[in-house]
Amino acid sequence: MSKENRIHCAALRDRVMSADAAARLIPNGANVGMSGFTGAGYPKAVPQALAARINAANASGEKFRIGVWTGASTAPELDGALAKVDGIEMRLPYQSDPTCRERINDGRMEYIDIHLSHVAQFVWSGFLGKLDVAVVEVAGILEDGRLIPSSSVGNNKTWLDQADKVILEVNSWQSPDLEGMHDIYYGTQLPPNRQPIPLVRASDRIGEPYLRCAADKIIAVVETHSADRNSAFSAPDENSQRIAGHILDFFAHEVKKGRLPANLLPLQSGVGNIANAVMAGLNDGPFDNLTAYTEVLQDGMLEMIKSGKLASASATAFSLSNEALAELTADLGRYRDRIVLRPQEISNHPEVIRRLGVIAMNGMIEADIYGNVNSTHVMGSKIMNGIGGSGDFARNAYLSIFMTPSVAKQGAVSCIVPMVPHVDHTEHDVQVLVTERGLADLRGLSPKQRAKAVIENCAHPDFKPALTDYYKRALDQSPGRHTPHLLGEVFDWHLRALRGESM
Ligand code: COA
Repeated sequence: MSKENRIHCAALRDRVMSADAAARLIPNGANVGMSGFTGAGYPKAVPQALAARINAANASGEKFRIGVWTGASTAPELDGALAKVDGIEMRLPYQSDPTCRERINDGRMEYIDIHLSHVAQFVWSGFLGKLDVAVVEVAGILEDGRLIPSSSVGNNKTWLDQADKVILEVNSWQSPDLEGMHDIYYGTQLPPNRQPIPLVRASDRIGEPYLRCAADKIIAVVETHSADRNSAFSAPDENSQRIAGHILDFFAHEVKKGRLPANLLPLQSGVGNIANAVMAGLNDGPFDNLTAYTEVLQDGMLEMIKSGKLASASATAFSLSNEALAELTADLGRYRDRIVLRPQEISNHPEVIRRLGVIAMNGMIEADIYGNVNSTHVMGSKIMNGIGGSGDFARNAYLSIFMTPSVAKQGAVSCIVPMVPHVDHTEHDVQVLVTERGLADLRGLSPKQRAKAVIENCAHPDFKPALTDYYKRALDQSPGRHTPHLLGEVFDWHLRALRGESM
């Protein structure tokens, strides 16, 4: 398919219109399923036109709000634009936009933070109500109406299936070489008719390269030529490099013990700079012929594909810096055979993750001494982003690793605490904790053994005395000695941090 002519279906050519005209087809109160997963493959024009329309409605005293469902986070042109005009009544399943975050934490926007693998089946089952409209970016439309997916797949298959009406954005900025890179699996069913997913290696293709959509549902086609927008990664800092170093040493140890094969197991790597640094470490490390079964493909993984360290990568989206994206787009054909983009109900499928034996590596806000992890809430009540896919991977991984610097806020706050004030991943789903100080392998340890390992290996020296003191007193005074805690003072730790007091 050429760069210029992307709409080959004659019937759909007739439905081409401006973004403003398409936005007028979205009614007040609608639930709208939008494409987009990180800053990749989100619609670039209709959400902004809709935001302008909402702004005008606000000015005339009319309340206009919609529900926004996506794959995961998006970009300022979608989340930012709609949040700024207070146009979002309900947001799900994941966001990382500063304006959305502010609105959610102010109590002005409702937010449901759910496992990314759950979204599709929740929608098919009707748990979330009716999906009125889908707004989906594609890279092109074939003569027979099949759609070439864009730089993310996310929940697009579900949106196109479930929405009453569909608006397509055809983005000629996306590389025509995306065609053939996707694997859209149409075999999923609801219980009791569900069948096993026939995916046995991370790189397997089990579906087809195109999305399907009934032509009579498509009410508008909008042509765009706009770049994806992802944040740049910072060069790995000292802490990230140390964290990566501990993880690499741990892998070498596990290989030596015969608990991991020499080329490890399929890797999942979460969002952010630390995850990217771990990939950089692996690129320079001793392991070859690696594979990835992950959610997003960041710069670090692309480097590993280029260097030949990573034989193949399966994901649901690219999440690349502008430089890496330009490089990929210019030379996409070279990568096509080694990258598969799938719907997120497959990239994050718990049963597949368990069967493949994925090694999951995710960031966190804080962990407690017993291994419970908070990935989402700052000081117990303010959302940062959301759980994303971390729970899909953590519970089902062969090895579930969580990582963070030992302190936040320029050293004022410890990321190892007595008890997390919000739990995303329980002690049962967390096998390894890593900070720049060291790594705590929690497998096979009782709660008391875990507490000692976490304080000793992961806590910052500035906070070790206070954590040790808490643990010793808890051991002495707690009514139960299995997971010793002093409930009266446990959250005093966070209250003191909020007041800026020393521990
Ligand atoms: N207490 C208070 N604030 C803390 C904190 C703590 N223990 N730890 C981090 N923070 C703050 C940081 O100061 C920073 O705030 P700022 O933006 O106001 O400076 C913010 O939280 C983000 O911290 P940062 O160190 O930049 O984190 P990151 O980019 O490594 O991301 C998570 C860490 C947890 C926010 C991120 O990994 C995430 O959203 N995870 C959940 C989703 C997920 O795991 N997805 C991957 C699945 S595939």
